[in-house]
Amino acid sequence: MALPTGQCDLHLRLRALALAFLVLTLPYHSSVEASWWMLGLPNSIPGANEVTPMNYKEVCKTMHFLNERQKELCVINESILMSVGMGAKLGIDECQHQFRMSRWNCTTNRDTSMIFGNVLAISSREKAFIYAVSAAGVAYAITKSCSRGDMNECNCDYRMRERRQPKGNWQWGGCSDDFQYGEKFSRDFVDSKENAEDVEGLVNLHNNEAGRRTVRSRMLRVCKCHGMSGSCSLKVCWRKLPPFRTVGDALLARFEGASHVKLIERKRKRVKKLRPVHKDMKPPNRTELVFLEESPDYCERNDTLGVMGTRGRQCNRTSMGMDGCRLLCCGRGYQTKVREVEEKCQCRFVWCCSVECEKCRYKREEHICN
Ligand SMILES: *[C@@H]1O[C@H](CO)[C@@H](O)[C@H](O)[C@H]1NC(C)=O
Ligand SMILES: *[C@@H]1O[C@H](CO)[C@@H](O)[C@H](O)[C@H]1NC(C)=O
Ligand SMILES: *[C@@H]1O[C@H](CO)[C@@H](O)[C@H](O)[C@H]1NC(C)=O
Ligand SMILES: *[C@@H]1O[C@H](CO)[C@@H](O)[C@H](O)[C@H]1NC(C)=O
Ligand SMILES: *[C@@H]1O[C@H](CO)[C@@H](O)[C@H](O)[C@H]1NC(C)=O
Repeated sequence: MALPTGQCDLHLRLRALALAFLVLTLPYHSSVEASWWMLGLPNSIPGANEVTPMNYKEVCKTMHFLNERQKELCVINESILMSVGMGAKLGIDECQHQFRMSRWNCTTNRDTSMIFGNVLAISSREKAFIYAVSAAGVAYAITKSCSRGDMNECNCDYRMRERRQPKGNWQWGGCSDDFQYGEKFSRDFVDSKENAEDVEGLVNLHNNEAGRRTVRSRMLRVCKCHGMSGSCSLKVCWRKLPPFRTVGDALLARFEGASHVKLIERKRKRVKKLRPVHKDMKPPNRTELVFLEESPDYCERNDTLGVMGTRGRQCNRTSMGMDGCRLLCCGRGYQTKVREVEEKCQCRFVWCCSVECEKCRYKREEHICN
């Protein structure tokens, strides 16, 4: 059976990450605000040797951007560091993909330990998205690693077979992704940073959970036919993680419908809850994203906020969306540049078996925000 492409992709990235770890050298000098997201950009961790089954416990201990609980989890197995790094990278890459056409494009800063810059100082929708997508990323990457057999603690999910027999002519079999373990790990690892006693913590925990539930609700059932050729007399099915892009798309929709909330405290019952700022809105359920503060407009460079602004960004002259020149350039206007590009063209098939192309030069208009 061929590897599903998603898994293949992950394998490649994992290898890249492993290579990246090889060039790191210890020790790492920390800063206060640093976070486990650093693991998603291993090249930016100055220091750290090759991570091996022999030394990974030491490596875990020297990663000052992990808190105590995270260090404990780090030593469960030598593959944890890499899986969490994969998860962080999945989240960061997905964020950059989903926001590539927006004023804030999920810029990461490799030169400081604050990967998303000060943007996280505001409890905005954008922050909600970052938390959700990266908590989802960790649950996702750990689950993949379980299915690959990288850890003693988890495996493929074989419990499917013992549950209720499915209706119809198919049965559970093969390796079902065990999302339950990945989800639990993500709760333990990612959520350990948060304090459920303060409002920021409650919001972050809510968004982390929304991210994980988004993955869970999009798990797929895939099947394979057995039996005499083409007869499909026996169908074997297993549960599989969706492509991570599906999770990003769903979270973007939740970003757009996110709830502006505030903290409600009932002192006597000692309950703390997040409730919509606007009284006529329904309380958010566990899958929705929540935020505390309106976002800045991200139009102008603001180093205090770590916002790059949209000057110099490429916009689309005909789009009415956020990537359209009017919205993206915040009304400052834009300049049009003509660039010459070379592409293959007039390709034809030559018997047998090659494709011959000519090189064509095109002029392409590019619009750049003032
Ligand atoms: C990590 O998991 C692998 C695969 O199950 C196992 O071979 C290895 O011994 C584990 N390492 C530790 C430290 O438990
Ligand atoms: C949560 O709320 C959203 C939007 O109101 C709704 O679309 C969704 O079905 C709800 N999910 C659950 C599990 O209730
Ligand atoms: C940056 O943003 C902060 C917070 O919104 C604001 O107080 C400050 O004036 C801004 N700085 C600049 C240079 O625009
Ligand atoms: C985001 O936009 C800035 C310009 O504001 C650009 O330099 C950067 O490459 C973009 N980042 C991504 C990930 O697209
Ligand atoms: C610009 O936007 C239009 C309309 O949304 C779209 O059809 C076109 O493909 C976009 N062009 C580029 C270069 O993205």
